[in-house]
Amino acid sequence: MRVLAFESSCDETSVAVLADGVLRGHVTRTQTLHQAFGGVVPELASRSHLEQILRLTRQALTDAKDSLEQMEGVCATAGPGLVGALLIGLNFGKGIALSLGLPFVAAHHLEGHVWSAELNGEKIPTPFLALLVSGGHTQLVLVEAFGHYRLLGSTRDDAVGEAYDKVGKLLGLSFPAGAAIDQIAAEGNPSYHRFPQLMMGEDLDFSYSGLKTAVLRQVQKLEPSEVQAHRADLLAAFQESAIALLTARLRTGIERFHPRALVIAGGVAANSILRKMARDIGRTSSLPTFFPDSSLCLDNAAMIGYIGEKRLAAGQRSPLDAPVKPRWSLEELREPENSISQKVISQTEYNDCTATSQS
Ligand code: KG4
Ligand code: ZN
Repeated sequence: MRVLAFESSCDETSVAVLADGVLRGHVTRTQTLHQAFGGVVPELASRSHLEQILRLTRQALTDAKDSLEQMEGVCATAGPGLVGALLIGLNFGKGIALSLGLPFVAAHHLEGHVWSAELNGEKIPTPFLALLVSGGHTQLVLVEAFGHYRLLGSTRDDAVGEAYDKVGKLLGLSFPAGAAIDQIAAEGNPSYHRFPQLMMGEDLDFSYSGLKTAVLRQVQKLEPSEVQAHRADLLAAFQESAIALLTARLRTGIERFHPRALVIAGGVAANSILRKMARDIGRTSSLPTFFPDSSLCLDNAAMIGYIGEKRLAAGQRSPLDAPVKPRWSLEELREPENSISQKVISQTEYNDCTATSQS
C-alpha cells in the first residue's frame, strides 16, 4: 500500500511517501526561526508549517518518483502536540484524502516514535519496553502489541529534552541544545560537580525540574569566567545525572515487566551516552535493543506513515472530521470508542462523511 504522511506537531514540518512500510521519499524541515526565542513559539510554528507544507509535499513526491494519484491512503499526526501546528498537517492531509477519495488515518505522534525503529527493516518482538524521550515527552511504555500500550511512567514536570534545552540556554547554547550538549559534554569531566539524582523510590515516573534548578544554582554560585572555563564539565555532570534517571527506569522496567526487547526513541534517543548505556543494559539483560536511525529520532513523517499504513492495512479509517488532540495518551488507543485513529467506520459512513464535506 502506498501512503502519503504528514507530521507537524511541533517545529518539524515533514512529509513522507511509503510503500509497504518502506520509505520512498521523505523531506523534513526543522524550523530555525525559534532560535532567537530560546524555545518554540506556537504561532510562528503554525505559520511556518503553512508556508512550507505544499513545497515539501511536492518534494517528497518528486523524491519518491510518485504522483499524488498513485497514493492509496493518507495519514497525518492528530496529536499530541501544539494545537495550531497540528491543525496545519492534519487539515492538509484531510484535504488531500478528501479530494482524491482516499482513506485517512489521524495518527498518534508517540505511536509513531514507538515503532520508528522498525523503519530500519527490523521487527521488534513484543512485549517490549519503550523509552520515549524528546523535548515534549519522557515516558516509559510497555508495548504489549501494536495499538496496546501501558504507560508505566511519565514526567511529572519537564521532559528530559526540555531540561537539555533549558540548561543549554543557561550556558549560552542555541535552541535546541541537546545535540550540542552531547558533543561538548564528551570533552568534560562528569565528576566536576555532583548534581542530585532524583530517583523517587520505586516509582517509574520522571522529574527534571529539580536537576534544571540545581544547574542554575551552581551556575549562579560561580564567577562567569569559571562557568566559561568549566562549561564542558558542568554539561557532562548534568548529562550524567539526566541519563542516570532514564537508565534507572529502564532497569526497573525490565525487572518488573520482563520485556523481550528495549526501544529507545524520540529526539533524545540520538544521545550518544544514552545509546551506549541502553545497549549495555540490553546486553546484560540479554535483550535486543532497538534505536531508530539517528535521522529518524527527531519528529518526522516517516514514522507517521509507518503506523498509519499499518492501521489502513487493518481496515481502520478516521473520519474526516477527526479533531486535533493536543493531549492524547497512548493508552487511549486501546479503547476504540475514545480513539480517533482506531475508530473504524464503515465504507458507507465514510462515503457519507465525504459526500457531506463535498457538498
Ligand atoms: O522528538 P523531538 O524532535 O521533538 C519533540 O517531540 O520534542 O525531540 C527534540 C528534542 C530537543 O529537546 C533536543 O534538544 C533533543 O531532542 N535532542 C537531544 C539530542 N539530539 C536532540 N538531546 C540529547 N542528546 C542529543 N544528541
Ligand atoms: Zn516527537
